[in-house]
Amino acid sequence: MSKTAFITGMTGQDGPYLAKFLLEKDYKVYGLVKRYSNPNFDNMDYLGVTDKIELITGDITDENCMNHLMKSLKPNEVYNLAAQSFVGASWDLNKLTTEVNSIGPLNILNAIKNNTPDTRYYQASTSELYGNANTEGLQDENTPFKPRSPYGVSKLYAYWMTVNFRESYSLHASNGILFNHESPIRGIEFVTRKITDGVAKIKLGLAKDITLGNLAAKRDWGFAGDYVEAMWAMVQKDEPSDYVIATGKEHSIGDVLDIAFQHVGINDYMSLVKSDPRFKRPAELHALRGNPQKAIDELDWNPQKTTFEQMIQDMVDADIERLS
Ligand code: NAP
Ligand code: GDD
Repeated sequence: MSKTAFITGMTGQDGPYLAKFLLEKDYKVYGLVKRYSNPNFDNMDYLGVTDKIELITGDITDENCMNHLMKSLKPNEVYNLAAQSFVGASWDLNKLTTEVNSIGPLNILNAIKNNTPDTRYYQASTSELYGNANTEGLQDENTPFKPRSPYGVSKLYAYWMTVNFRESYSLHASNGILFNHESPIRGIEFVTRKITDGVAKIKLGLAKDITLGNLAAKRDWGFAGDYVEAMWAMVQKDEPSDYVIATGKEHSIGDVLDIAFQHVGINDYMSLVKSDPRFKRPAELHALRGNPQKAIDELDWNPQKTTFEQMIQDMVDADIERLS
């Protein structure tokens, strides 16, 4: 009999990639979407999964809703990807960010514990937990957490609650500490997609320049399609645990700009990129680089499947196609 998975955050970036991966493994997939007067299923459509999953309207901040869904669906696996995930907005939306990113996971964990304690749980944790800890080296599962954004602080609560439910109630609950991962369906406000969309618009004569914030930031950027494989792999382990998922390579915003502009034949782009303090953050996280060794050893996960260069080029191509 095929397994059942319940994914929250279906309209985002990771939800559709994970759904596609699980469908290929013959899972029955239930996907949670928030209630909207005008729903947007573009990301699910892009990956061709909209009609293959059972969509359920709900909200992770609603405790009754999570209880009812666990009781009725009794999924084998829950992947909690739902979040207010934009770090930049988390200062102005700090209460909402906390309700969704901290209380949301707590509602799901309680619903599992009270209704279906054998259900396995994946929590979408993040490299934002580290803040600027050990930015000279590689961050791993033992690096201390020092979050620098309301987003990071809200995710810290969810991280520790996931560990706590595992230790207190023996739930199969794991944290994936995922470093930045991107794709052609990355949200338009995140820096890589903002650049690839901007480059596509400049190439097509639809915009004159791109305005960014802190140009000095560096990140460890991987491909979302590769990262969802690690989510699934940790849920399959006999014992739950926490894993860093990263490439181990650091890139600058300049690297993203170089690849994206060169891909459309524009080599001299400096005058096309502006910086505006509006896009800077009250507290910045300067650099991130993760050590995925535990995931390589224990999950047999390959961090180098898709290269950074290929991913950025694919994102530019997809944006050009969309805009054409
Ligand atoms: P995303 O594109 O921003 O998607 C977030 C999803 O959560 C959207 O479908 C959103 O729905 C949904 N959502 C928001 N509030 C909700 C609520 N109250 N109830 C139910 N659903 C809600 O994020 P992503 O890039 O796919 O990331 C997936 C998860 O991984 C997030 O938890 C994120 O924080 C975490 N993460 C991401 C990265 C990364 O680099 N992408 C790295 C580390 C961790 P609407 O669109 O309808 O608002
Ligand atoms: N978004 C954005 N827009 N970021 C900019 C800009 C801009 O115009 N200009 C510079 N940046 C810098 C940000 O200040 C940050 O240092 C870096 O580019 C990356 O920003 P984002 O792409 O917004 O991602 P993030 O690192 O803040 O957060 C993402 O990764 C986290 C994992 O580390 C999100 O996906 C989070 O949900 C995720 O947890």
